[in-house]
Amino acid sequence: MQQYRLIKIINMIENNSIVADIGTDHGLIPIFLSEKNIAKKIIASDISEKSLYKLIEKLNNSYLLDNIETRVSDGLGKYKPFEMDTIVISGMGGLLITDILKKDLTIAKSANNLILQANNSLYELRKFLHENGFKIIEEDDLFENDKYYQIIKTEVGLEKYENKYEYEFGKLLIEKKSKSLYEQLNRLIKINSNLIEDLKEIKNPNLKDRITELEEEILYYSKVRGLIED
Ligand SMILES: C[S@@+](CC[C@H](N)C(=O)[O-])C[C@H]1O[C@@H](n2cnc3c(N)ncnc32)[C@H](O)[C@@H]1O
Repeated sequence: MQQYRLIKIINMIENNSIVADIGTDHGLIPIFLSEKNIAKKIIASDISEKSLYKLIEKLNNSYLLDNIETRVSDGLGKYKPFEMDTIVISGMGGLLITDILKKDLTIAKSANNLILQANNSLYELRKFLHENGFKIIEEDDLFENDKYYQIIKTEVGLEKYENKYEYEFGKLLIEKKSKSLYEQLNRLIKINSNLIEDLKEIKNPNLKDRITELEEEILYYSKVRGLIED
């Protein structure tokens, strides 16, 4: 599989587990888990019957993938508590992931762990987890096709972070001095610096506040980058 994002998600799944893959779409995660004998059983679901059909077609053409079950389900709506020990929700916005968890919190909390890969709104997702009785036990990140991704593994537990940047960029990623996060911070600093240059060229006094805001963001990103450099 050429998809590093999906490989990193799969690397967080414990052997022999029963996995629910929410929003499975192409079904690559369940197929890999089944082919490599990583999971005992996979329940793959999607809100869209059309999306799920891509996987159903593959299953119909292979008698080997017999431990994959499919369901049309809005989030965890068609699952039962304790039906699976690992929940994977990946490739969606962070707010959609929090909505899915919020709607069926009891089911979400019945799993041993959840592996979440949000395409955005990571601050909101981590806040939601801490405010709803989850702790973050592992984090990974990567660039794929020039886009930066973070993956969070979480389980039931109590935890709070002190700083905003730990929610936004990942306390564990900062602690393990992630090279990809370092690169992402460099990129954010560069984007803001270029924007400031462009806005200064315009010479409009109304843009002063926006420039100050962008400069403050650079200081914030630089502070986090400094923690990774130490
Ligand atoms: C971009 S794909 C991600 C596919 C795969 N999980 C991945 O990481 O590559 C997002 C999928 O989530 C599904 N989806 C969106 N909202 C959903 C919900 N509330 N419940 C279940 N699936 C949902 C979409 O139909 C789509 O197939």
